[in-house]
Amino acid sequence: MANIVIIGSQWGDEGKGKIVDLLAEYADVVVRFQGGNNAGHTMVVKGEQVISHLVPSGILQGKTCIIGNGVVVDPEVLLQEIDYLTAKGVACGPDKLMVSERAQLIMPYHKQIDIGREKRKGQQKIGTTGRGIGPAYEDKAARQGIRCADLIDAPLFKETLETVIGEKNFYLKEFLGEEPVDPAQVHADYSDFARRLAPYVKNVSVEVHEAMRQGKQVMFEGAQGTHLDIDHGTYPFVTSSNTVSGNACSGAGVGPTCIDGVIGIVKAYTTRVGAGPFPAELFDEVGGYMQSKGAEFGATTGRKRRCGWLDMVVLNNAVRLNGLTGLAITKLDVLGGLDEIKICTAYRYRDTRLETFPTSIRVLTECEPEYETLPGWKEDITAAQRLEQLPQNARNYLSRIEALAGTPIQIVSVGPQRDQTILLNNPFA
Ligand code: GDP
Ligand code: IMO
Ligand code: MG
Repeated sequence: MANIVIIGSQWGDEGKGKIVDLLAEYADVVVRFQGGNNAGHTMVVKGEQVISHLVPSGILQGKTCIIGNGVVVDPEVLLQEIDYLTAKGVACGPDKLMVSERAQLIMPYHKQIDIGREKRKGQQKIGTTGRGIGPAYEDKAARQGIRCADLIDAPLFKETLETVIGEKNFYLKEFLGEEPVDPAQVHADYSDFARRLAPYVKNVSVEVHEAMRQGKQVMFEGAQGTHLDIDHGTYPFVTSSNTVSGNACSGAGVGPTCIDGVIGIVKAYTTRVGAGPFPAELFDEVGGYMQSKGAEFGATTGRKRRCGWLDMVVLNNAVRLNGLTGLAITKLDVLGGLDEIKICTAYRYRDTRLETFPTSIRVLTECEPEYETLPGWKEDITAAQRLEQLPQNARNYLSRIEALAGTPIQIVSVGPQRDQTILLNNPFA
């Protein structure tokens, strides 16, 4: 019996959706514990692509899917996603999908504030997804958020909305110069959402504990990546939640003693969407090769992802921060065709060599990557089912990552499809 946390090791989009979908075959319950619909998790099964933003990536395997208290929920997006999945024949009624009573809601004013602030920042913008994530977490911390439980309590919802909306409209209009939101419209729209969402709203901590008590296996699905973590990432160019594995506990309502392992999803190279420092970023044709061969466009906003070599300063930071017990290397196929492959093993900052990820954004921006170079491979590896079927140079690359990270590789992904995977060591076995 095992309960496993899956997190992104880099800056998001490592392929968490694919690996969670794959491993969901062996789990009974899949729980999202942070973030919101800033996430875009892609699953490809029998040639058909499904992108989920809020519903956990266990849904295609027919597993119980839970949205934890640590997630910020845009109810309109969630209902659209339920409709989209239902239209595809995927079961996602209240017997399959649950939302925490304690999950905070994303309100229309959160989205407008997010977009308005980014506009105002101009060149200094963070490059958020514009989904209202930051402003929703701010209200949670300010103790003026609205939770799912408050939404489905009609009189309480009306009263809370009336209390907060005046301040929001004042800020929108007077400070950001944006359109205010219409309180009556928000009330009417959210009252409709409440009616549809009510059957899904549960005490998630109790549900997850009951599943564990019955001997079921639970997988916790992270969103974003370690270096977008509000505390440990490249602040202020981060998202507004803790993306590290420790937050699986507070974001789902379980204790640390429930967790048996943590798998870090690692793209075989590095990508980043939005602004912020990225020492191993490439601006040459190799970066362009990764971007186009890897189809590196954001699954949520469609923006081009910035690309660079695998960065061990980043990965080793993730190993430590998340207590990784295993790695899943994704998109190895994308590196095929390159003469040589580089790994960033340290940063050069002025006269110093850094192996630890720096805290200061100014220092990080000045860091130059130090590389070690390995020979590449030309073969197409997208049909490989076993490690022995990979070219020797691809295997050498994997061994080098494993040695530098001091953490075993448990999964190697060689294509977007569920079955394009080499499962070396099943974390649920
Ligand atoms: P997530 O946010 O971590 O779930 O990742 P995204 O879904 O945003 O981005 C990962 C992209 O890479 C998606 O388009 C996946 O279908 C794709 N993908 C995942 N694993 C592989 C792989 O091993 N090879 C290739 N070529 N594509 C992959
Ligand atoms: P998944 O789960 C990649 C980035 C945004 C921006 C910063 C802040 O698919 O890996 P936010 O809207 O969260 O306030 O934006 O975080 N970002 C992501 N980048 N993958 C994601 O999710 C992301 N979610 C947010 O681009 O730089
Ligand atoms: Mg994504």
